[in-house]
Amino acid sequence: NEGSLWGGRFSDGPADALAALSKSTDFDWRLASYDIAGSRAHARVLNRSGLLTDAELTDMLAALDQLERDVLDGTYVAAESDEDVHGSLERGLLERAGEALGGKLRAGRSRNDQIATMGRMFLRDHARSVSERLLEVVDALIAQAEAHPYAPMPGRTHLQHAQPVLLSHHLLAHGWAFVRDLQRFVDWDRRAAVSPYGSGALAGSSLGLDPVPVAHDLGFDYAVWNSIDGTASRDVFAEFAWIASMVGVNLSRISEEIIFWATKEVKFVTLHDAYSTGSSIMPQKKNPDIAELARGKSGRLLGDFTGLMTTLKALPLAYNRDLQEDKEPVFDAADTLELLLPAFAGQIATLTFNTERMAELAPEGFALATDIAEWLVRQGVPFRSAHELAGEAVQAAENRGVELWDLTDEEYANISEHLTPEVRTVLSTEGSLNSRSSQGGTGPEAVQQQLAEFKRQLAEL
Ligand code: ARG
Repeated sequence: NEGSLWGGRFSDGPADALAALSKSTDFDWRLASYDIAGSRAHARVLNRSGLLTDAELTDMLAALDQLERDVLDGTYVAAESDEDVHGSLERGLLERAGEALGGKLRAGRSRNDQIATMGRMFLRDHARSVSERLLEVVDALIAQAEAHPYAPMPGRTHLQHAQPVLLSHHLLAHGWAFVRDLQRFVDWDRRAAVSPYGSGALAGSSLGLDPVPVAHDLGFDYAVWNSIDGTASRDVFAEFAWIASMVGVNLSRISEEIIFWATKEVKFVTLHDAYSTGSSIMPQKKNPDIAELARGKSGRLLGDFTGLMTTLKALPLAYNRDLQEDKEPVFDAADTLELLLPAFAGQIATLTFNTERMAELAPEGFALATDIAEWLVRQGVPFRSAHELAGEAVQAAENRGVELWDLTDEEYANISEHLTPEVRTVLSTEGSLNSRSSQGGTGPEAVQQQLAEFKRQLAEL
């Protein structure tokens, strides 16, 4: 079992089928730089506790630097016989530092604490790059909201016309969900910023190695307080995968709307040529593929999260080899979002809104009925009766095939003496919007205040 990390007690090497099953270098190789960073920090802690002389430390660090250069330029790659990134890099170190020196580095560490640490380092970096790209989506939403501060659109519930709202209000509603996702990544990082290095296989080290400076060396705030927890827990991975799937679900919701808005029937948006695709057979087609891929990839992200959670369920402490399955789902989640978000941001930034049509449709479908009812309440009519009277107005308009503002003063008076001609002040999109002026409402001033708070929370991230 030449070159492996665990040959001593075996008289025979692994069967080919086992070696093939066991091998993880195809996906864990991307952790190589993190593993080498961990090795540098580990060499320093061995030196501090007298297990490596200063001269040995210097040679070890030089060999690790050389190894990293060789990995990065592709001179050093995993061999077919390497089980995982840790084993392969130890082989590479031995080749560069010699067996006598290279063989000293493994003291007091295990692949179990290495992989738990490397995974957190990878995810912390990718949480940042995913967040930067998500911020571009949010910026694109802000830019569209600012470009259309007062443009009305039909607000919907059950996909039916409900009440007029401002397009800026609607876009920021999607924006808030993404702001919370960004806040989630920041909050998640407090839990991810704890290093498992020094936990050993599960029980810690007898060599007097202080894990705290190692943690700091690797950019962590703390070292774990429990070596079993450090090597066996993956909730930090799972939480990352959950946040990624929440981002996916939030993307899928705005995607669904974009797809709907781009239909011939709705015609609220035109997609930019650079962010839409054609058909190989139908020359006229212009398809919202980015939105559709986002909607599709939200399923994939949920699959990553669910797969990981299923792996973790009922796993006994401490490390089990099942945990090798923790990496591909979170790698895939990070890769998926890093690929998707730039395209998504471009799609949002280049949407052209058909504001004329949106404004025209905003009050239609009796979307001002609530305004009649609330106007009556302001005249002292109990809401129960007000709701009833506004409903009768809807019925009258519907019977005549007209909208609420087409009913005559006489028709209103016939419904109720309370429905005086003054009701017309709220029978317009503008009147309806202006009246919703309290915090969180769709009134133009409230939306401007909202936008300021939105930006304040973003700046705080
Ligand atoms: N490659 C393993 C993983 O990804 C780490 C090695 C731990 N292996 C072991 N036999 N304890 O989880």
